[in-house]
Amino acid sequence: MNIVLTGFMGTGKTSVGKFLAGHLNWQFVDTDEIIERDCGRKISEIFIDRGEKYFRDVESSVVELVSLFNKAVIACGGGVVLRPQNMDALSKNGVIVHLFTRAEKILEYTKTSRNRPILNVPDPLAKIRELMRIREPYYKRCNLSIDTTDVGIEEIAKKIMNHPSVSPCLV
Ligand code: S3P
Repeated sequence: MNIVLTGFMGTGKTSVGKFLAGHLNWQFVDTDEIIERDCGRKISEIFIDRGEKYFRDVESSVVELVSLFNKAVIACGGGVVLRPQNMDALSKNGVIVHLFTRAEKILEYTKTSRNRPILNVPDPLAKIRELMRIREPYYKRCNLSIDTTDVGIEEIAKKIMNHPSVSPCLV
């Protein structure tokens, strides 16, 4: 069984995922990292050179692969929830966690990043709000949702591990 972390950019998937994996002595995987390694270029370059559709296709094949892992904490790119095929694969052997916070916090955490091409627009806050609205229904397929606003990494990890859909799988 795996723990899958989804949620918008800047909600803490990578930091929580690394902590959780270390604590459980499980493997940590990050779909964006695998995509960059496989393609030999940064996410922002993939978007520029090949476009979003190509990126999403590569992302889906990476999701299919990591879904076959066991005892892995999988941090997914924020757009993974958009394709039902991704959610189907991830839910076969994983509990899917949705991390969320306010748009203003997301802006704060992502504004220094040059590797988030989707937010590379004149008004990133408006873009964040728009995407959050569009994506909201897709998170309904997650097993649990956690508000990460002003909550420490350890506390978030505890909430995940103690959740009834996760804790029985950890014994
Ligand atoms: C994206 C989120 C990014 C990355 C890509 C697209 C999105 O990952 O996959 O830039 O559509 O929300 P993070 O959520 O890890 O930043």
